[in-house]
Amino acid sequence: MKIEIAENAGFCYGVMRAIEIANRALKEYKSLYSFGPIIHNPQVVEEYEKKGLKVIETLDEADGPVLIRSHGVPPKVYEDIEKRGLKVIDATCPFVKEAQRYAKQLYDEGYKVVIFGDNEHPEVKAHLGYTNYTASVINSPKTAASIKASRVGVVCQTTQSVERFGLTIGELAKRIRELKVFNTICDATEKRQEAAKELAKRSDIMIVIGGKNSANTRKLYEICKENSRNAYHIETEIELEKNWFDGIENIGITAGASTPSYIIERVYKAIRDIVNG
Ligand code: F3S
Repeated sequence: MKIEIAENAGFCYGVMRAIEIANRALKEYKSLYSFGPIIHNPQVVEEYEKKGLKVIETLDEADGPVLIRSHGVPPKVYEDIEKRGLKVIDATCPFVKEAQRYAKQLYDEGYKVVIFGDNEHPEVKAHLGYTNYTASVINSPKTAASIKASRVGVVCQTTQSVERFGLTIGELAKRIRELKVFNTICDATEKRQEAAKELAKRSDIMIVIGGKNSANTRKLYEICKENSRNAYHIETEIELEKNWFDGIENIGITAGASTPSYIIERVYKAIRDIVNG
């Protein structure tokens, strides 16, 4: 019986940086507000609530510094925070910022901006703001058919799958004469997805750890399901079931970008205890 943790599992650079920024700000300010959960991981959010980082959904709830999480926000949110005389603590991931810059550039250059991503994801909602809410959001080769313009500029939600992005761009290229594409998919996601796929191929079961509300974890789970006999998406070790491991030889573990290493370790140990009886 072998238990293996995939390379690049867990916190990415942007999330780690956001957590460090939050830690520093918590030392400096008595009350701190996070505009939306700091990361898509309920356990971490709870831990930080206890430390004094209050999650807010509207700026009306804030009367102190406001932390912008790694997903970023539309420009209007910065303006609104300033108008209220509050301090901005910006933990937007630099790679997300880069995608925002490209979205604005394409908009300024007069392209019909297309965002490849999930409509509901906060990062995509922020990107939209940089195109003055004129961009269209697509997420598959099929939805690419809805884009009708002669000059199209594309940016991508950083956590999307490269394969699907490539297929969608291929679809756009069939019909659009002037197509400008910024591949803003983050390296960390690519590496994590590749490592998970490789491990899934040689595993009988894959355990994918991360928030149920985390888009990148759900994507990892899909990849693992396609490439391994069995895959399960859990948030913590409590969800593990003994019977999943009956007659299993190779167990693989991976985790989304918002999963701290202490949760990965706890899952690893719990699996080891289950298989060792
Ligand atoms: Fe940033 Fe990439 Fe993570 S864009 S938040 S380092 S997944």
